[in-house]
Amino acid sequence: MIVKQKQITIRSPDDCHVHLRDGYILKRVLPYTSKVNSRAIVMPNLIPPITSIKTAIAYRKRILAALPTKHNFIPLMTCYLTDSIDPNEIEHGYREGIFIAAKFYPVHSTTNSSFGVTKITRIQKVLERMQKIGMPILVHGEITEPHIDIFDREARFIEIILEPLRKQLPGLKVVMEHITTKEAAQYVASGNKLLGATITPQHLMFNRNHMLVNKLNPHLYCLPILKRNIHQNALHKLIASGHCRVFLGTDTAPHLRFFKEASYGCAGVFNSPSALPAYATIFEEINSLEYFERFCSENGAKFYNLPLNKTTITLVRKPWKVPNGIYNNTLIPFLAGKVLNWRIKSNV
Ligand code: NCD
Ligand code: ZN
Repeated sequence: MIVKQKQITIRSPDDCHVHLRDGYILKRVLPYTSKVNSRAIVMPNLIPPITSIKTAIAYRKRILAALPTKHNFIPLMTCYLTDSIDPNEIEHGYREGIFIAAKFYPVHSTTNSSFGVTKITRIQKVLERMQKIGMPILVHGEITEPHIDIFDREARFIEIILEPLRKQLPGLKVVMEHITTKEAAQYVASGNKLLGATITPQHLMFNRNHMLVNKLNPHLYCLPILKRNIHQNALHKLIASGHCRVFLGTDTAPHLRFFKEASYGCAGVFNSPSALPAYATIFEEINSLEYFERFCSENGAKFYNLPLNKTTITLVRKPWKVPNGIYNNTLIPFLAGKVLNWRIKSNV
C-alpha cells in the first residue's frame, strides 16, 4: 500500500526568475507571484530594458505600488547587460543593494533581447568587475547563431560560451537560468559552489511532444524551447538528487492571449498561478517530496546569500482545477483547465 502525504508545509519560497512586466499587466500578474513567494528575482527585459540604477529603482517602486496590501513581498532587481554597460554602474548598483545580479541575454535569444550582448568579449570589463565584487551573472544560455538548431542551442552555449567563460573567470558566480537539457543538468551537477541553476515547472512536466504532437499548444511555447523526453528525465534526476544549487525559478512570462495564439506567437509561459502546485505534483511523481522545500525555499536563498524566509505556506493534497483563463481570458495560465493533485491551502 502506498501512503500518500496529505499536506506539506514549507518555508515560503523565493521565485528566482520572474517576468512581472509593467503597467496594467504588472498589476494583473504580480499578485500570483507575491501571494506565494516572499521574494522574487525580477527580470529586466522591459522595453526599454532596465540598464541603470535609476530605472531599476523606478521599476521597483512601480512593483511595490502594484502590490496587494496584504502581501509581504520583496522584489529583487536585476540589471540587463548590454554591450555598452558601464562596470561602475553595475558595481555601484550591487553595492547599494539595488541589483542582486545582472542578466545576460545573448542578442535576439528571446523576448525583448534585441538590446542583448552581441559578443561576450564586449562585456569583458563588466564580467571582470562582477567576478571581483562577487555579483552573480544570470545567463540565458542559448547560442543564437542561425545555423545552430534551436534544440541544440543550450548544449552548444555551454560548450562554446559558458565553459570557456568559467575557465577564464573562475571566480565568477553564475546561474544557468531555466535549464532544459541533460547537458545542462550534468554541467551544473559537476560544477562548484559558484554555479547554480533554475528549473521551470513546464520543463519538468513536459517535453516537446506535449507541445507539438496532435495539436500545437502555443501556451507551452517558451524559450529555451521544450526538449525531448530524455532531457526532461535528466531534469527529474537532477531534482531527485536533492542538488543544493538547483532552485525554483518559474520564468513566469505572461503575454496577452492575443499574442500567444497568433501567426507569430510570443515565447513565454504564464505559470505563476499554478507553478507551486505543479512543482509539488512533479516532486511527488518522482518520489522526491523530501527535497521539495530545499528546492523552493532554501537553495536559492543560500546561493544568493539571503536570509531564509520565516513565514510558511501549506499545500494540500486535494484536486484543484487551474482556471481556464484570467482577466476575461486575456491571459491563459499554465495548465489552464487541468486538474492538479495539489493546491495552496488558502485556495481550499
Ligand atoms: C521570456 C519573456 O517572455 O520575457 N520568455 C520565455 O519564453 N521564457 C524571456 C525569457 O526568459 O527567455
Ligand atoms: Zn525568463
